[in-house]
Amino acid sequence: MAKPKRRYVCQACGGVSFRWQGQCADCGEWNTLSEEAPETVFSARHDLSSGGRPIAFEPLDTPGQALQRRATGLAEFDRALGGGLVPGSAILMGGDPGIGKSTLLMQAAARIAEMGGASAGPVVYISGEEAAGQVRMRAERMGLAQAPVQLAAATSVRDILTTLGTMAPPALLVIDSIQTMHSDQIEGAPGTVSQVRGCAFELIRYAKQNGTALVLVGHVTKDGSIAGPRVLEHMVDVVMSFEGERSHQYRILRSLKNRFGPVDEIGVFAMAGQGLEEVGNPSMLFLSGRENPVPGSAVFPAMEGTRPVLVEIQALIVRLASGATPRRAVVGWDSGRLAMLLAVLEARCGLNFSSAEVYLNVAGGYRLADPAADLAVAAALISALGDRPLPDGAVWFGEISLAGEVRPVAHSGIRQREAAKLGFNRAFGPPGGALAEAGMRYADIALLPNVVDRILSAT
Ligand code: TYD
Ligand code: MG
Repeated sequence: MAKPKRRYVCQACGGVSFRWQGQCADCGEWNTLSEEAPETVFSARHDLSSGGRPIAFEPLDTPGQALQRRATGLAEFDRALGGGLVPGSAILMGGDPGIGKSTLLMQAAARIAEMGGASAGPVVYISGEEAAGQVRMRAERMGLAQAPVQLAAATSVRDILTTLGTMAPPALLVIDSIQTMHSDQIEGAPGTVSQVRGCAFELIRYAKQNGTALVLVGHVTKDGSIAGPRVLEHMVDVVMSFEGERSHQYRILRSLKNRFGPVDEIGVFAMAGQGLEEVGNPSMLFLSGRENPVPGSAVFPAMEGTRPVLVEIQALIVRLASGATPRRAVVGWDSGRLAMLLAVLEARCGLNFSSAEVYLNVAGGYRLADPAADLAVAAALISALGDRPLPDGAVWFGEISLAGEVRPVAHSGIRQREAAKLGFNRAFGPPGGALAEAGMRYADIALLPNVVDRILSAT
């Protein structure tokens, strides 16, 4: 039998190389390759076409039990999950260190433990990062110390599964974090791709067999992907990310993948002295104090799933005297999209940004993904360039094409109704978006040059 080759596995993307390299050929990360145990090789003699057990086929509409969900007691968490925890499912919870993953999961665990009757099974929280005393202290500070959560500090998957084997299967099992777990079946230190994958596999198998909802906390690398194992994202049913600026109070829980529900709903929380508070009506949250209209500020009624959220977009333009390369800096929006919009404004509207620095900021630490933001961003840029404030009480929405047309977007009715509710009385948007309701004046904007005329010629 041939000697198994050495393999080097990238700890960031899971890519395999057969010699050591400084840079991973798959994802381009530096110094991420590390040697791991060789993969088992099946010889070609093995004929897999006989000797197996027959598998049973089933129709799609098997009259089995419908998908059951268990509410977590945190409505915002349930919303992001698409309605609650599904028994037997595995959830990967990613997020920057210190963003509040452990806090969120301890709160959910405590609620479920308090709600669950005897039939539901216990709630188990395994901390691999903090000592049990630390976790307990935090729970006490959050007023959760009385909740019947089974807490343990452990990192050995064998110990954990052995212990779980002696008790009723938990309704919820939290593993904080998967990167601290290790299995004695697998070579390598905790946190390596093979360890993380192997441990996750064992825990997920347990969860599926026992109808336990499993939450794996996963660390996030600096580029924002869940550390090491992208592979882990394929193994789990739901991938969630907990986001926010640590300097801001607000946290947003998104699902990036969900086998049981939509992925565009968000949960909104605020970090307070006693843990995370739910923010049931987030539409005002990201509007900063707006007493006097200032140039470069536009309000955009964004949609997050089925929920409208009003956000303020701020632009600042600084003219450069010298021929230095001007900066473009963006917080909360896509920088490629900004470059595109600047090019459209130059090519279609004759505006000149080439000798100016452009700064764009979405207020409140919010990250915009809605394509309908184009028109609001354009309005903020034009307003900043011309040093003229936008009309008071107005919201802007619409997608902009490379030809400079303003395109229709989804949910224009919901966007305007929410804006009206919050005291706005004018909307600028694509043709045909008018809402036949009192209280909102709608202006059709067909082409981007129309916006320029309106803003720069207004007195
Ligand atoms: P934590 O849940 O430990 O973050 P993660 O598990 O994602 O690393 O949250 C840590 C931060 O949350 C910490 O910096 C302090 C803050 N925090 C509060 O502001 N209030 C609270 O009640 C708690 C428990 C934490
Ligand atoms: Mg933590």
